[in-house]
Amino acid sequence: MPHARIRRHLRHGMLPQLAVFEATARLGSFTRAAEALHLAQPTVSTQIRKLSDTLELTLFEQIGKKVHLTAAGQVLYEGCQELFENFARIEDALSGLRGLEAGRLRLAVSTTGKYFVPRLLAAFVAAHPKVEVSLQIHNRQALIDRLANNEDDLYVFANPPTGHEVVCQPILDNPLVVFARADHPLAGRRAIPFGELAEEPFLMREPGSGTRLVAWEAFDAHGVAPNVRMELSTNEAIKQAILAGLGVSILSRYTLGLDTDPSRLAVLDVEGFPIRRRWQFVYPVGKQISPAARAFMDLVRAEAKTLVQDHLSGQQPPS
Ligand code: PGA
Repeated sequence: MPHARIRRHLRHGMLPQLAVFEATARLGSFTRAAEALHLAQPTVSTQIRKLSDTLELTLFEQIGKKVHLTAAGQVLYEGCQELFENFARIEDALSGLRGLEAGRLRLAVSTTGKYFVPRLLAAFVAAHPKVEVSLQIHNRQALIDRLANNEDDLYVFANPPTGHEVVCQPILDNPLVVFARADHPLAGRRAIPFGELAEEPFLMREPGSGTRLVAWEAFDAHGVAPNVRMELSTNEAIKQAILAGLGVSILSRYTLGLDTDPSRLAVLDVEGFPIRRRWQFVYPVGKQISPAARAFMDLVRAEAKTLVQDHLSGQQPPS
């Protein structure tokens, strides 16, 4: 019988036990696993003990408050991740047969994507109200890590990873501009030489950010170093720092938002700007795109211009 070697894995209750084990391993704590799964902590401990007994192996060792995987636990954890990913795939395929009635879309976007992706999701959810949607927002490097671990259904990058086996499909233009406070002496001047930008105190995104990469590339291309006054890890913090008079920065034009009042920020007319990049859907080569992700991509292809880009070009900050 083909199942003879895995008979112990087919025991009643094994799957819920594996779900408890996976959460405990991922979160590094029985308490946090119990919270995440809405279970009592003794239930979590009991499930793990039963699983250990069935497998005749110790899965965790407790050091202080934190639980750590044993070598056997690590093997089981990796297997669990594959197993649950397979279940997710089966569920996606079945929901495709149910006509997108109960699929799910796990989308992960870079920090500048958050200014427009919710608008696209709103249109998607209106068309497919039963699809369960989640949106993760991270900087470029964190997105690359998530992609390498196959954690999401689909990614939106402004600067897709290079040297990875990925499929990229352009969505929208992403102009990067130089922002300054509206009363900055360079605001309103035409054709500002890049060298003058390099003299301004510069607000730089954190390592791992795609926006930072583009900014460094721009300075490198002109053979000058930025005069970095401060590193900040969010676009919002950079905008607030600009408004506080701390300096200027290169950011996606989208960071102004689609509906906010742009009157306190100016876009400087520096030579070589805007830098033109494109937002792109990205997924690993060989990834089986779920029906929900496919439907989202189709909707974005058809409607991104009307829902997002036209809106942005109708609303220019003073320059
Ligand atoms: P980030 O986004 O600056 O938040 O990393 C831009 C990108 O996707 O490269």
